[in-house]
Amino acid sequence: MSVVETQVQAQALETYPCPLLDTRFSILKQSIIKPEDKARVINSYQRLTIALEKNANLIAKRGPQAIPEIDFADVQSNDGSFPTGFKSIVKQTGCVIIRGVVSEEQASSWEDELRSYTKNHRVAGFPKDDPQNFSLFWTRPQVQIRSHPNVMKAMKAVGQLWHISQDDQLFDLESQVVYADRFRIRHPTTDAEYTLPAHQDSGAIERWEDPEYRACYQKIFEGRWEEYDPWCADHRSDAKTSLYSLAKSCSAFRAMQGWMSLSHTNTGEGTLRLVPELKCATAYQMLRPYFVLDERFNDTAPLFPGANPGNLQFFPTTKLHPHLLLEKSMVGIPPVKPGDYVFWHCDLVHEVDRFHPGTRDSSVSYNGCVPLCPYNLENLLRLRQSFLDVMPPKDFNGIEHGELERDHKDHGARRENILSVEGLRALGFEPFDAEEGGITEGQREMRRLANRKLGFESA
Ligand SMILES: [Fe+2]
Repeated sequence: MSVVETQVQAQALETYPCPLLDTRFSILKQSIIKPEDKARVINSYQRLTIALEKNANLIAKRGPQAIPEIDFADVQSNDGSFPTGFKSIVKQTGCVIIRGVVSEEQASSWEDELRSYTKNHRVAGFPKDDPQNFSLFWTRPQVQIRSHPNVMKAMKAVGQLWHISQDDQLFDLESQVVYADRFRIRHPTTDAEYTLPAHQDSGAIERWEDPEYRACYQKIFEGRWEEYDPWCADHRSDAKTSLYSLAKSCSAFRAMQGWMSLSHTNTGEGTLRLVPELKCATAYQMLRPYFVLDERFNDTAPLFPGANPGNLQFFPTTKLHPHLLLEKSMVGIPPVKPGDYVFWHCDLVHEVDRFHPGTRDSSVSYNGCVPLCPYNLENLLRLRQSFLDVMPPKDFNGIEHGELERDHKDHGARRENILSVEGLRALGFEPFDAEEGGITEGQREMRRLANRKLGFESA
């Protein structure tokens, strides 16, 4: 680098609105892209910015309809899978709405019950003064939703979007593990206290810093983002999504984040917004640190915009990630009714409406797709104990809790509320079927390992 270039860079660093990280991040940055790949990465980034603009314009034109949707009945009549053409659209957008996973009446009655529960007990949550996102994990509706036969079928359908390269890898994308999360009953209001800006969950700097997490994105760092497969789970199970903070972090590989709608909610009524384009947005996010200084390749400045160490989420902004064109590419989801289910890929950028100008509560029960793999098995062992103790899952130790659910006579952590065999397995109360025909060796071994660790078979 010439003296002039160094001065330009120093000046840019001084004025750049993005924290300069420790020098070890400079070393990390240099180690990720090999010298022989540099020219290819530069070329690939140019192609990428063009593709991003094209995609953003298409999304803006389609609006909420850019988010694909399908009736649950159509999935079931197609052997429980998405039809091939539809599947490729979901893979491209990284998100899907499955309509009518349970009946409207069923989902509405769950909402009623949850509302009553929050009224009958002093429950903590967010926002603090008027909780609408409740620190509750084991109410009857939540336990029933997580184990409802149709929800388990929906999980299976979205799990099939993923694949692994080796049949003998310990991974079972067809079996579920419960990850107990909260629920939201958001009231119509003009205040913006509830909001969550554009972000990506499951870590921030970890996507670059953790070698196993980074391995998911290797093709991008070789200048071949077109070949990057966001649906390959090979390295996901061992990826460390939280290197700096254990409290409030997600200790599971959530293949898809998701929630069931418990209310009629129109677009923009205090609900989810998504960037329905997965591959280019991810590639851009991963390469952006190399081009954030004047759009020129730089692998020495310890800048990782939007990914501060210690943050549990990555935050892209229009200023630091201008090519993402968030003002065009981020759209509100279409209107949903009780019983609809929304899923989005763990790398998909999303946010929550700032305001809720509607007339009724916007209610959802969070419940992602968490496949059985060694990492998620560890979570299952802890979670089963949480269920038995009627205590918050360990991942939520860092949040404020009011009364403990175990002290509520009407808590739902009871076996009779688990509505299917798959649901019992997902909570560690029934062995996984290791003898099932047509599964891979890796699936079979994964199920055997789970059964041993859960105490169903001698080691
Ligand atoms: Fe999120």
